[in-house]
Amino acid sequence: MGHKIAVISGDGIGPEIVAEAKKVLDTAGKKYGFELDYTEVLMGGASIDVHGVPLTEEAIETAKSSEAVLMGSIGGDAKTSPWYQLPAKLRPEAGLLKIRKALNLFANLRPAYLYEELRAACPLKEEISAAGFDMLIMRELTGGLYFGARSTTEKDGVRTAVDTLSYNENEIRRIAIKGFDIARKRRRKVCSVDKANVLDSSRLWRSVVEEVAKDYPDVTLEHMLVDNCAMQLVRDPAQFDVILTENMFGDILSDEASMVTGSIGMLSSASLNETKFGLYEPSHGSAPDIAGQNIANPIATILSAAMMLRYSLDLDEAADAIEGAVKQVLADNYRTGDIWSEGCTKTGTREMGDLIAQRV
Ligand code: IPM
Ligand code: MG
Repeated sequence: MGHKIAVISGDGIGPEIVAEAKKVLDTAGKKYGFELDYTEVLMGGASIDVHGVPLTEEAIETAKSSEAVLMGSIGGDAKTSPWYQLPAKLRPEAGLLKIRKALNLFANLRPAYLYEELRAACPLKEEISAAGFDMLIMRELTGGLYFGARSTTEKDGVRTAVDTLSYNENEIRRIAIKGFDIARKRRRKVCSVDKANVLDSSRLWRSVVEEVAKDYPDVTLEHMLVDNCAMQLVRDPAQFDVILTENMFGDILSDEASMVTGSIGMLSSASLNETKFGLYEPSHGSAPDIAGQNIANPIATILSAAMMLRYSLDLDEAADAIEGAVKQVLADNYRTGDIWSEGCTKTGTREMGDLIAQRV
């Protein structure tokens, strides 16, 4: 009997990159003696096309009865896709938010690491990239602005829109604990990012994080305002180990952090609840403009699959092998277009999957 994995291939480049991740997982399975049973689940535009909604209750149940969810990406081109003619609640992204909430995936881990081999793709000045960096963004994923009450009203011909940013101390405490726990397995540094000079929610965030820090005397805690953090990420990214932050700040900072690694196509992520269950997806989007052309970079999804083995299935050895295979393929100078530089061999999506599988 294999491990039950729900698979959301999704939209755009999703199906292509997920196919490569499965290829690599199955190769690792043969080598390390495990089996994965995949059940395809529809979400996003793919679900809208079939069911008229971006995520069905049935899909949620399938995900819940699995050990983990492996996901590609969802969404289409907002200008041209008919999905974006629908009310916001029925658009592809609403499916992603719904599954995060339904599965209580409050902790989103987004590692951003500069591969030695990709230094040429790093957009930062050489004197900065030379120091390298290795950080993990711990983003709160089921609270804040994303899930607060919102409305748009009109009075006397004037439209007003409201989004609510609310956190209670329990929501802050549980993500802070995850942040400190993971810092203990890394360089024991937490940088908690907020906007405490303006927002009440940030002032509560800061005080709860300080309470949690008392249980981790071996971990250094620093607070940083989010605007300063955005600047520090390009000025001196090497200073960061774990960045602990709320939902919206984490969304923005993780895109920035991924870009300084050279390409958003390299960044994996894990979204976890209190148990071993998790949803694993690349941090990037569905890139509809390059879908179906065999040019997307599958590495972020393959690295997400490795995180799945590590965090949900306790298959650390196989996870190490996949991460090692990715490093090796870069050392062997194979690159998809997004990370290609002079002197490297350009490969397509499928070829990249094959090359990594061969090195597992
Ligand atoms: C992400 C994405 C999502 C988010 C979108 C697609 C709703 O940008 O996972 O970072 O904002 O959380
Ligand atoms: Mg985002």
